[in-house]
Amino acid sequence: MDVIPLDDPTDEQIEQWHAVLVAVHAAEPAGDPAPALEQTARHLMGAEGRLWAAFEDGAAVAVAELRLPGGRGADRPGEIDIRVRPGHRRRGLGTRLMAVAAEGLRADGRGSVIAQVLAGTPAVPFLESHGFVCVLTLSGLLLRLDDLPPHRVPELVAAGPAGYGLVRWRGAVPDEYADALARAKDAMADLAEYEGLPWDAARVREMAEMVAKRGDDLYTVAAVQGTTVAGFTEIVVPADAPERAAQYDTAVVPEHRGRRIGIWVKAAMLEWLAAERPEVREIETDNAGDNAHMLAVNEELGFRRQRESCEYQAAAGDLPPGPGTPA
Ligand SMILES: CC(C)(COP(=O)(O)OP(=O)(O)OC[C@H]1O[C@@H](n2cnc3c(N)ncnc32)[C@H](O)[C@@H]1OP(=O)(O)O)[C@@H](O)C(=O)NCCC(=O)NCCS
Repeated sequence: MDVIPLDDPTDEQIEQWHAVLVAVHAAEPAGDPAPALEQTARHLMGAEGRLWAAFEDGAAVAVAELRLPGGRGADRPGEIDIRVRPGHRRRGLGTRLMAVAAEGLRADGRGSVIAQVLAGTPAVPFLESHGFVCVLTLSGLLLRLDDLPPHRVPELVAAGPAGYGLVRWRGAVPDEYADALARAKDAMADLAEYEGLPWDAARVREMAEMVAKRGDDLYTVAAVQGTTVAGFTEIVVPADAPERAAQYDTAVVPEHRGRRIGIWVKAAMLEWLAAERPEVREIETDNAGDNAHMLAVNEELGFRRQRESCEYQAAAGDLPPGPGTPA
């Protein structure tokens, strides 16, 4: 068995990678649509980090992606995603890829790595066996737009709080709101806690660029007072599977909380999407398990719980030594 870096994958290697994703998805669909080849190709071509695959008899049997957000050497955790074909598990392949990725992580000077995995799947004992610890539990929710009672969204939009206006934009944030949006993103204390990083205008723009590079569309609705962003919500519509959009960040700045701004911006987003992207039929989101307020907002909007997952983290120094490391 050979582990090969695929930092500039050929069409054939992309197909091999995709075949592993399809085999893993068939065994554990977890309510997600099957990946499309174009989606995999676009993802791998735009990947910001390192890729490896393990081959047996010329066929890829396992793949690993190490995302290195923020560019080389950035002071942020890496993100690891390892997938092993169901018929090839418990033979140390996952561990071998983890060791290679750990070496890549340390070579880039990153202090830690995170991975998001579903509760109750083999990924949990696998990550725990490598010293990962669950730092955040997440509830996966799904909103089926066809299930929404027709009056709910217009009523919620009309019931917006006095003294605020709604603004919206597609793609990167307009300059006049960039700093204010970064401040509002800092209001997501639960995320900042483990990422340990303040948001600034550059990081906000970088996130929008990453989405655009993948070919996907980012939509943002914000509640504002002048150029102050009191709260906002973001949705990403994937280019290759626009029927299921993904909720990105939503936050309300602490001094503006308790005025139903969160549900207002989300309802305004649904109204905008219905007009702008009628092909969107579902929206998926993850909420921190301890974020009772956001869960309540989403459940009032009509989101239903689908699954529980966990954000795992490990220090780079605690991961297995890479193949090139002396014992
Ligand atoms: C999680 C996954 C990558 C593990 O790959 P793998 O090649 O089977 O892992 P390894 O053989 O290296 O297992 C290493 C250790 O992890 C633990 N482990 C892995 N799978 C386990 C399972 N199903 N039950 C209990 N322990 C498990 C064991 O301690 C194992 O050591 P052992 O076999 O000597 O007991 C694989 O199951 C997979 O692809 N799952 C779907 C995708 C996914 O969720 N990826 C995680 C994202 S990082």
